[in-house]
Amino acid sequence: MEKTNYNTIDRLAHGDVLSRDEWMVLLTSLNADEREYLRAKAAETAVAHYGKGVFVRALIEISSYCKNNCYYCGIRASNRDAQRYRLSKEEILECCKEADSLGFNTFVMQGGEDPKQTDEWVADVVKTIRAAYPDKAITLSVGERSAEAYAAFKEAGADRFLLRHETRNDEHYMQLHPEMMSSENRRECLFTLKRLGFQTGSGMMIGSPGQTDEHLYEDIRFLEELQPQMIGIGPFLPATNTPFEKQSPGSADKTILMLSLLRLRFPTVLLPATTALATLCPDGMERAILAGANVVMPNVSPVEQRKKYSIYDNKKSTGAESAQQMQQLEDRLNAIGYHINYARGDFKN
Ligand code: 5AD
Repeated sequence: MEKTNYNTIDRLAHGDVLSRDEWMVLLTSLNADEREYLRAKAAETAVAHYGKGVFVRALIEISSYCKNNCYYCGIRASNRDAQRYRLSKEEILECCKEADSLGFNTFVMQGGEDPKQTDEWVADVVKTIRAAYPDKAITLSVGERSAEAYAAFKEAGADRFLLRHETRNDEHYMQLHPEMMSSENRRECLFTLKRLGFQTGSGMMIGSPGQTDEHLYEDIRFLEELQPQMIGIGPFLPATNTPFEKQSPGSADKTILMLSLLRLRFPTVLLPATTALATLCPDGMERAILAGANVVMPNVSPVEQRKKYSIYDNKKSTGAESAQQMQQLEDRLNAIGYHINYARGDFKN
């Protein structure tokens, strides 16, 4: 049989192992019709496993303080102009209460690596939420911590953890982060989280400065090794007052392509339509879902703090990105034949 790019896409959809060359063709050389074929297959795969329900997670941004200095991130420590806030335990519990009343069954606590939100403090917050909401899923996204800390979070009742690997390529990692940070430590954290039994999420930005298609190939290989339950990807977007403020944003089309490839390679993975993509283009959420994404994470942070969690410029926190606008989200999903699924949405194999 003649070997076409359509065959390669079909083989990926069947779970065949693709060679490096085949992956590189998928990443670099599909024409518009082939991309559309890939996108449709990916959407079909998501629907086969999860139906047309899109899981929702209530996102609580718990601190805009961060000790790290990632070159891309607007809340990096050296950004003197970043507006800082940290939520107290009581404020976080208020967010959970609000999220519960809006129907959410997953709370995601995400923040910069804030030294004041110590391991003990995080574990205590999780324990309190767990006691108040025995059936909810609790997700943490609080950065690189020790194995002991992660174990304590698990013991306290956390179910899931998000920590993007950012890039598998060590040289590229060094182009994105100062010397104090290491891609090896980040991977180590991820394997620890998996070993401890967290539903673990990883991922990378698309189009970050210096990223090549080879890097994306290495990212896919790394994800195959890690076997995460969740994969978060979105376009790189420049943030003012960072070393990358003048860099161009990543491409929406490339992000959509990557979403489809990841859906086909990891058929049951939980794959969000990210805020970054929604920020880059007005129909980013719909495009992501129609390319295989099956999660959205509306913001339930206190409204007066939302603008301050500015990891990139113009970050959306209104409309379908806001937990207070669930009807708008439902309407937009209905318009493409989908609907909100309020269930916990655990990973299923
Ligand atoms: N553009 C896009 N994504 C970003 N992140 C951080 N800064 C940016 C940016 N400027 C992503 C990183 C991080 C996640 C929380 O947000 O991948 O892991």
